[in-house]
Amino acid sequence: MSADLQVAVGPLALKNPVLVASGTFGYGEEFAPYFDLSILGGVVTKTITLEPRAGNPPPRIAETTAGMLNSIGLANVGVEAFIRDKLPFLQQFSTAIIVNVAGRSAEEFQAVLRRLEESELRIDAYELNYSCPNVKEGGMAFSANPHVAHAVTSTLRKVTTRPLIAKLTPNVTNIAEIARAVAEAGADAVSAINTLLGMAVDYRTRRPKLGSIVGGLSGPAIKPVALAKVWEIKKAVDIPIIGIGGIQSYEDVLEFMIVGASAVQVGTANFVVPDCAARIVRDLEKYCDQEGISRVADLIGTLQVST
Ligand SMILES: Cc1cc2nc3c(=O)[nH]c(=O)nc-3n(C[C@H](O)[C@H](O)[C@H](O)COP(=O)(O)O)c2cc1C
Repeated sequence: MSADLQVAVGPLALKNPVLVASGTFGYGEEFAPYFDLSILGGVVTKTITLEPRAGNPPPRIAETTAGMLNSIGLANVGVEAFIRDKLPFLQQFSTAIIVNVAGRSAEEFQAVLRRLEESELRIDAYELNYSCPNVKEGGMAFSANPHVAHAVTSTLRKVTTRPLIAKLTPNVTNIAEIARAVAEAGADAVSAINTLLGMAVDYRTRRPKLGSIVGGLSGPAIKPVALAKVWEIKKAVDIPIIGIGGIQSYEDVLEFMIVGASAVQVGTANFVVPDCAARIVRDLEKYCDQEGISRVADLIGTLQVST
């Protein structure tokens, strides 16, 4: 018998807990040549803003000894082109479509959501990008202050009945209080974490390696930080958590779920092995079968801690 990989992220039902992270999987079509996207629990699309954005000046990627730095700066096609050219493609796959949105202000966030709500196409949930470290206005500001995070989430809650997932930044002193604020304001779930603020320098030229000087660190280097943040959030709120940060194997997925994540997102690993997320789903199923775990959901939050 095959293990049951289904999980629920609040009102969002997923066939398995493995999603792909925003900004690391394009709009989905870029990865469709590598595997059938229907194997995934869900696809989180690149962040969409009201107007198209060109993003930050190059170079926008730098490798470091431990982790990758990026400063893409939310380059995207804008909500109109997204609905017209990108969203139709994803409809054919039997996987959750989670549209990641952002704005410079609460009003812009609201306008993007309103426009998406008008579309007749399938959207299963929204992920609110409160946490990009690479944009001058907005971005991280939305999840750096609990009052702001609460206010924006309350405003957006009124625009849609679809599941709202607030994506949080680790670049704060107390991520739990931000999670509490968005939960109180009506978010159905939180996802954590976005990238960690970082910097790389070329000592010969004495110049920063990124055009925007600082950027976001991602990859396996940030996994221990991400696990700690998921744990902090788990202790603070009852809404489900989607774990993100350095996941590249089924073992990583198990660790995040045991700590308290109901689902996970695979990010930087997609750049290294394009069908990585599909392999993880297959490996997870195999592992559960071998170990006699009939429902993967039973693992959520089962961390053993002796006090
Ligand atoms: C090149 C790149 C672009 C990203 N763009 C976005 C984005 O548009 N929106 C967003 O919410 N997160 C974005 N992220 C953050 C990822 O979704 C994820 O939260 C982060 O990379 C940590 O996961 P990882 O270590 O598995 O990559 C981006 C990350 C990378 C590496």
